[in-house]
Amino acid sequence: MTAVTLDLRRVTKRFGEGDAEVVAVRDVSLAVAPGEVVLIMGPSGSGKTTLLSMMGALLRPTMGSIHLDGTVISDLSEGGLPDIRLHHFGFVFQDFNLLSALTAIENVALVAELAGLSGRAARTKAIGLLTELGLGRRLDFLPEKLSGGEKQRVSIARALVNDPTVISLTNRPQTWTAESATRSRGCSGGSPRNRVEAW
Ligand SMILES: Nc1ncnc2c1ncn2[C@@H]1O[C@H](COP(=O)(O)OP(=O)(O)OP(=O)(O)O)[C@@H](O)[C@H]1O
Ligand SMILES: [Mg+2]
Repeated sequence: MTAVTLDLRRVTKRFGEGDAEVVAVRDVSLAVAPGEVVLIMGPSGSGKTTLLSMMGALLRPTMGSIHLDGTVISDLSEGGLPDIRLHHFGFVFQDFNLLSALTAIENVALVAELAGLSGRAARTKAIGLLTELGLGRRLDFLPEKLSGGEKQRVSIARALVNDPTVISLTNRPQTWTAESATRSRGCSGGSPRNRVEAW
């Protein structure tokens, strides 16, 4: 039997109440195996972002359960979710969400430091990843000095820096090619990863 890392069982998300109620995700079951790439496609408003948010421990389901490597993350308290996100998920957001006052290295290293790496080790890891992604000459640039594709690659490096179990992408980055995915795996130890994309 194939191992399952992320398992959604009959997940539903409702927003609002009464006349204003919206069922954004209805009764979805989905299992993601190590190394598997899952694409979630659907029209605008069909619930892709809501589903990805629940899969990334950003949002709790109204009904159903979400299991990550044997932990029922949908049962965790609000206070337990940031730690799960930090160690198990790498997010590449549609608008990148880089911190404008921090350089490319600092944007990536900060996330590694939050996960417990020393400042020096975090910086070394950030430089390695950014260089692998072709940003070796942009390490000390602020986001405003980077092109759109370069910002995307910084956010990909940030998503990879803690060797996450699951990488979640909202809208496929143009710069995420099969080649860069392979390189990224290589520079972080070759551990199997799942990737979930939505657009
Ligand atoms: N916080 C919220 N409160 C109320 N309704 C919400 C909320 N978030 C999302 N919805 C509703 O849930 C539905 C699904 O929204 P969602 O953002 O998941 O769609 P999507 O598939 O990602 O759309 P798009 O392709 O436009 O990004 C929409 O009808 C939206 O209006
Ligand atoms: Mg969306």
